[in-house]
Amino acid sequence: MLIDLHRHLEGSLRVATTLELAHRDGHPLASAADPEDLLVARGPLGGLLPFLAKVDAAPSAFPRLEDWVRAARECVEDAAADGLDHLEIRFSPWFIRQETGLAPEAVIDAVADGARSAAEKAGLPVVLIGILLRDLGPSLGYAQADTLLSRRDLLGGIDIAGNEAGVPAAEFAGPFARARDAGLHVTVHAGEAAGPQSVWDAVRHLGAERIGHGVRAAEDPRLLEHLAEHRITLEVCLTSNVHTSAVTGYADHPVRRLLAAGVPVALCTDDPRTSGITLSGEYADAAARAGLTPADLDRIRADAQQAIFA
Ligand code: ADE
Ligand code: ZN
Repeated sequence: MLIDLHRHLEGSLRVATTLELAHRDGHPLASAADPEDLLVARGPLGGLLPFLAKVDAAPSAFPRLEDWVRAARECVEDAAADGLDHLEIRFSPWFIRQETGLAPEAVIDAVADGARSAAEKAGLPVVLIGILLRDLGPSLGYAQADTLLSRRDLLGGIDIAGNEAGVPAAEFAGPFARARDAGLHVTVHAGEAAGPQSVWDAVRHLGAERIGHGVRAAEDPRLLEHLAEHRITLEVCLTSNVHTSAVTGYADHPVRRLLAAGVPVALCTDDPRTSGITLSGEYADAAARAGLTPADLDRIRADAQQAIFA
């Protein structure tokens, strides 16, 4: 079983498609000296924000709704080609509006269209997760959540992403409570660019069932116990963590400590285009570079299956 629970659409936009659309419209990427360098991380970048700059450089080259239908279709096709059995795609409709001017509700419809048709064709189950962008601030939390709830039937879950160190999760408690009341599952980016307190906040204030990254939970034994006891799954993205410098290298990644503490772990990609990776490649690196055993990987596959947002 190959399951990706944490894959951003914005970080999955193919370099080739991005440049094709940039040339179509005379977008600045088309005339950049090294466009690939603007879109792809080739090694550790020293922080989350320079990594997000590469994730975020692509969406403005997708200014039409039909571009988002295509983006979602290609995201599913790439996952199917890698052999995935289940895929959860997340995206921020308000970020896409900021970059393109498109109405966020229409973006959700377009992404759902492209994902559904490709998923049917490939026989690959796909769940969509709507993201609130931390950077827009708590004052827009309800408005962002209400956009997602206007398309409740197209979504399986809600997340919050962006500059973790800049905006505390607790300030989004109200919008997340509204989303939970509407039946959306909850995952939260935490413990990536901020410490264990950020993970506690995600669990206590936002009702997180899964944590995006969560690697810094390893610094707090009580938190590890809590995550294990409540079966809160960490969506661990090895190469992304290396590229954002959340960890210093594969060999130093705390994933083995998380497993030893009994915390459920799912291996995920985060932003496959930005990191230049596939999920099958991440499983291979988990063994070859992060020291995980075949038994560890079997457990991770089972943990991922248990944590699907159905
Ligand atoms: N958006 C895309 N990738 C992200 C990451 N690794 N952390 C926070 N927000 C993101
Ligand atoms: Zn992410």
